[in-house]
Amino acid sequence: MKKLTDYMAEELSSAFEKAGYDPSYGKVGVSNRPDLCEYQCNGAMAGAKAYKKAPFMIADDVVANLADSKVFSMKEMVKPGFINLKVSEEFLADYLKEMEKDEKLGADTAKEPKTIVIDYGGPNVAKPLHVGHLRSAIIGESIKRIGRFVGHKVIGDVHLGDWGLQMGLIITELKHRQPELVYFDDSFTGEYPTEAPFTISELEEIYPCASGKSKEDEAYRQEALEATHLLQQGKPGYMALWNHIMNVSVTDLKRNYANLNVSFDLWKKESDAQPYIPDMVEMMKEKGFAYQDQGALVVDVKEDTDTKEIPPCMLLKSDGASLYTTTDLATIVERMKLFHPDEILYVVDKRQELHFIQVFRCARKTGLVEDDTKLSFLGFGTMNGKDGKPFKTREGGVMRLENLIADIDEEMFNKIVENRSVRDKDAKDTAKIVGLAAIKYGDLSNQATKDYIFDVDRFTSFEGNTGPYILYTIVRIKSILNRYVEAGGNLEAGELLKASNGSEKNLMLQLSGFGSMIESAFEEKAPHKICAYIYEVSNAFNSFYHETKILSEENQAQKESYIRLLLLTKRVLETSIDLLGFEAPDKM
Ligand code: ARG
Repeated sequence: MKKLTDYMAEELSSAFEKAGYDPSYGKVGVSNRPDLCEYQCNGAMAGAKAYKKAPFMIADDVVANLADSKVFSMKEMVKPGFINLKVSEEFLADYLKEMEKDEKLGADTAKEPKTIVIDYGGPNVAKPLHVGHLRSAIIGESIKRIGRFVGHKVIGDVHLGDWGLQMGLIITELKHRQPELVYFDDSFTGEYPTEAPFTISELEEIYPCASGKSKEDEAYRQEALEATHLLQQGKPGYMALWNHIMNVSVTDLKRNYANLNVSFDLWKKESDAQPYIPDMVEMMKEKGFAYQDQGALVVDVKEDTDTKEIPPCMLLKSDGASLYTTTDLATIVERMKLFHPDEILYVVDKRQELHFIQVFRCARKTGLVEDDTKLSFLGFGTMNGKDGKPFKTREGGVMRLENLIADIDEEMFNKIVENRSVRDKDAKDTAKIVGLAAIKYGDLSNQATKDYIFDVDRFTSFEGNTGPYILYTIVRIKSILNRYVEAGGNLEAGELLKASNGSEKNLMLQLSGFGSMIESAFEEKAPHKICAYIYEVSNAFNSFYHETKILSEENQAQKESYIRLLLLTKRVLETSIDLLGFEAPDKM
């Protein structure tokens, strides 16, 4: 569907042409002086040099040729040569009527749908999810949804960290605690039990305990390294334990992600990439990319234009063990084979940027990906506490995601009970829904690459640029619509009329920008643009609401038009928050 600005640019281009200038000067943008006009064309300024003419003269010629245009209610030359524009109320209402009928509310569907793999979440098996994993999940999920909305085939992969020393540590600790377990009996040849010898909470206690010991006790660490090695060789008892660890962890992770309204198409893991390593390494050696350096096998990835040193990419350590880098390269091999994606996007902490520079360069240089496959890294900033340091518990430990969510829900519950008349039973569920919005909006409203301060008080506020404020606006619309229906109103009736006052027009203008906003949010992988947009829409709606008697309007056609506008506003807001990964309750 055409954008409102496309219609305007068409008018402007033809006016430039009629006046004898190049039509390409007729570009139109949203005004940065909303006090003066709604839209603006700066083509006369741009053309002055080419035509050796004062810009105001060109602008005057163009404005004269807009005299018959139905699109504008105001077209005005302003010195030195700007063309200030206001859209006509009739045209705007017609545009919104078109939007009402469009399933995508004016956003275009990609003409050439791309296959995009998004690597996000990235939790590590057996270690509890902490706030560091929160951002990846929230941002990745939103980008996945936006990509699908604009018509791409997007595959979300959680890329579980299951291949590190943590497995050996857990096995070692278990062996110390329960040496009698059948998994440690080398002469055992029967079937291993199907029931895991631990629960998730035990597992979550075992890992930090083992990790702590390994830092103090070198012999223990060696034991864990050996166990990791044996596991990777496929020792049956250890493989059976690994399976238990995986099952128990994945069940728990799925529950946690479901609570966050985050879901993955693939539950692939680092270990899945391991079978691809030997051939990949062989190829890199054979083609002369990989060489021995102090016993390790490396590939050079520095480039002439580098301004800082990019160290070689290490494939194998001197003991032959593979690394995080090797796993990520092999995962690219696997993804190319399974999906042949146009793009692989990694949503990972920006502190891993160097790792991804090395991996991407190595993959490209050695031909793991072709030129038409894009590798992109969206490195996000750190979530800090009010002290400006990475978010911690009151005791200074790593904050578990579950506890963070519980804290927000409690705060939300208190605020809801304080402010509203919702019964207690509902308030608990409502607090969960609103709490999730508070967390996600608090995160997504910041540009992903920036650090931000996690401020429970601010995020849970019903006022200001917050998730709860947006939900409150949606709930307000729902409640007006409910009262309308209860009074016998028909939601299908009537049609949108032209705006009857300034705040209504402003709301209509905001709504008309949905399509361009979504397209640029996708192009720039920028969910924060959706947040900024719905904050504007909510403000515009609330001003309109305060200035307009909606349900007591006596003119039936006018009342129906208001209802149509409410419905459209609700659709725009609900579609937007769905793309951010949360939803609105019915009451608050
Ligand atoms: N598990 C890793 C971590 O916790 C993140 C994985 C990110 N994805 C990747 N393909 N390396 O740091």
